[in-house]
Amino acid sequence: MARILVAYATKHGSTAGIAEAISKEITAAGLSVEVKEIKNVQSPSGYDAVVIGGPIYMGKVMADVKKFVGRHQDKLAAMPVAAFVVGLSPASKDEKEIEAARTALSDAIAPLQPVASALFAGSLDPEKLGFIERKMIGMVKSPTGDFRDWDAISAWAKRLPSLLVKG
Ligand SMILES: Cc1cc2nc3c(=O)[nH]c(=O)nc-3n(C[C@H](O)[C@H](O)[C@H](O)COP(=O)(O)O)c2cc1C
Repeated sequence: MARILVAYATKHGSTAGIAEAISKEITAAGLSVEVKEIKNVQSPSGYDAVVIGGPIYMGKVMADVKKFVGRHQDKLAAMPVAAFVVGLSPASKDEKEIEAARTALSDAIAPLQPVASALFAGSLDPEKLGFIERKMIGMVKSPTGDFRDWDAISAWAKRLPSLLVKG
């Protein structure tokens, strides 16, 4: 049975929820899945394919993603990889913001060429933020709330098994 790793970065937990939802769909397709915080993954060795995801903070995907890709670039380049990014800009209707999220994702996973990629709207709960983060989002008048679209997440995840595992 193919073994899939779903490796995610998170600061406040909303990307973890998305990673769990993705793993449920892949498990439902009959594959063996492990979901792990990316900073705790020693190596992608032993997996047949990897799904990598992380949130955007101040225009960039959390650094743990780029570190993981840099450290294991050769192994990852030799296996199917899917990638997703989480942020408030994917919830926006502004094409420039959506493009910025897309650029942040490709920068974080470069030079990998994912078999599938997605931008997902995240969640921002001011109660979970520290003083400085609260000031930052206040300055940019960021919307707050949970914008995660579980239907869009499941629909994307349902496509993954056939893209990640051939034959
Ligand atoms: C200080 C701060 C900066 C952020 N910067 C961005 C950003 O530049 N672009 C974006 O799309 N979302 C931004 N966000 C929204 C987060 O990406 C969103 O809340 C995400 O769901 C957080 O994921 P996590 O809960 O897994 O850490 C920011 C949030 C905070 C608190």
